[in-house]
Amino acid sequence: MNLTLHVWRQKNRNTPGKMVTYPAKNISEDMSFLEMLDIVNEELIQKGEEPIAFDHDCREGICGTCSLVINGMPHGPERGTTACQLHMRKFKDGEEIYIEPWRAKAFPVVKDLVTDRSAFDRIIQSAGYVSVNTGGTPDGNALLIPKERQEMAMDAAACIGCGACVAACKNASAMLFVAAKVGHLRNLPQGETERLSRVRKMVDQQDKEGFGHCTNYYECEAACPKEISVRFITQLNRDYVRSMLAVDTREETSSGGA
Ligand code: SF4
Ligand code: FES
Repeated sequence: MNLTLHVWRQKNRNTPGKMVTYPAKNISEDMSFLEMLDIVNEELIQKGEEPIAFDHDCREGICGTCSLVINGMPHGPERGTTACQLHMRKFKDGEEIYIEPWRAKAFPVVKDLVTDRSAFDRIIQSAGYVSVNTGGTPDGNALLIPKERQEMAMDAAACIGCGACVAACKNASAMLFVAAKVGHLRNLPQGETERLSRVRKMVDQQDKEGFGHCTNYYECEAACPKEISVRFITQLNRDYVRSMLAVDTREETSSGGA
């Protein structure tokens, strides 16, 4: 395959960036999108030019590091797929492809396609954990958890913290990420004790970081490579309101409330 790439190049966050056009020649349709970028970078290095900076680590869809807006879509056109697991066979020979970084005030560009997503780390640091004594392994095994609750927690825990939800949202809201992180803890008994204080702290930190509010467009769910459901935002909103009202909702959560 031969392709034409239009890539966002930006030296650092203080320098204006621009789209630069590069040919991508003799690309195998079996390559991943990142392997295609590796080929383009090797040619740039051979020519003595600066390679395109982009984030990657596991290249198997589990670390959440890769972060490219491809033809206007975070992680590209394939639903439920990270950029590292996107294959070139999804594109046509001769196609022009536009590649940009995540666009959000809370994710400033570091260089080219690399953004600073440490705002997510600070949201987790604010309360995205269980700090109460939950006993040892035998205690965990002795706690019976309804299957529906286990599955809900596991679905939320699939979030890889990539930030595509933010990049897809016109408000750059981080609600789906926060809701997933809250959701995998609040749906298990170990996370119950701090449920309301956790949601308040994490949402407050999200606001401090400059993410926008959710206005129910659901672009986040459509862009999420792990297909996290917006129903977790519903749970989060209900917990947030309860935390404001300081209502004790243990009875409802233990019976599997939304
Ligand atoms: S909710 Fe989905 S899109 Fe958002 S950070 Fe988690 S995995 Fe990425
Ligand atoms: S590089 Fe790890 S999820 Fe893409």
